[in-house]
Amino acid sequence: MKVEDDLGLEERFERIVARRDRIEPRDWMPEAYRKTVIRQVAQHAHSEIIGMQPEGNWIGRAPSLRRKAILLAKVQDEAGHGLYLYSATETLGVSRDELTENLISGRQKYSSIFNYPTLSYTDVGTIGWLVDGAAICNQVPLCRTSFGPYGRAMIRICKEESFHQRQGYELLMTMMRGTDAQREMVQESVNRFWWPALMMFGPPDDSSPNTAQSMAWGIKTHTNDELRQKFVDMTVPQADALGVTLPDPDLVWNEERGHYDLGTPDWDEFWSVVGGNGPCNTQRIEHRRRAWEDGAWVREAAMAYAEKEQTA
Ligand SMILES: [Fe+2]
Ligand SMILES: [Fe+2]
Repeated sequence: MKVEDDLGLEERFERIVARRDRIEPRDWMPEAYRKTVIRQVAQHAHSEIIGMQPEGNWIGRAPSLRRKAILLAKVQDEAGHGLYLYSATETLGVSRDELTENLISGRQKYSSIFNYPTLSYTDVGTIGWLVDGAAICNQVPLCRTSFGPYGRAMIRICKEESFHQRQGYELLMTMMRGTDAQREMVQESVNRFWWPALMMFGPPDDSSPNTAQSMAWGIKTHTNDELRQKFVDMTVPQADALGVTLPDPDLVWNEERGHYDLGTPDWDEFWSVVGGNGPCNTQRIEHRRRAWEDGAWVREAAMAYAEKEQTA
């Protein structure tokens, strides 16, 4: 018998969270904790699903069979991540239908990065390197997040994300060993994605009002700025090895801090994209809405079949 059995529900919850253990769906939890986890995991699930679109755009135009097989596998992984995370959200009593409605109606968000277009095949490499790289920085600490189903989903997802990052880096490295025109394509793509990738960590700590409570509950374990710094420190040497220039003149090693200093992202652009005015917001949601509507007959047929099996 655990000591917690003798405690009040709230005290029990606080103790589990304080010793960095897991909260499970059957456990009592404050309503605000439940709401925060639903919001965060749903937003993460939506990002995986919407994130299939910018890269899916290039499956039919991959330059070789090898590249096509890699890209197909990657986009399929993202679908799997979305489904895992929707399942984790469902353990808190929200249905998949409700979550999809929340996405399509704009009540719930997804990562701002997926509202930027993919203009060349090179963007597949840059997304793998920078976007999946940023996702890894965000997600590795989440393997220890306090909500059990979320943390366990993240363990498997992170293994796949590291393949995504490597395939992107390998694609860019191949192009950097190619012609001048290819090297220019890589630089152009990195110029477009660098700042939006930094914005993936969310607003600066002083304008992120939910961070303190999320950290106290063990949902988040690091602040946005800490994770952004970690990503920059990890990525600069990779950019050097690749031979590309990151488009930030203020990016310099700070001996005293033991970190790279960096310039300020355009936060007005970030808030504008989050607010629905990025280059591709409308297109992404419309595409998802169409896929959801076109799939209605499949869901109905599956339900009818399940009912028939049950009566038989
Ligand atoms: Fe993913
Ligand atoms: Fe990924």
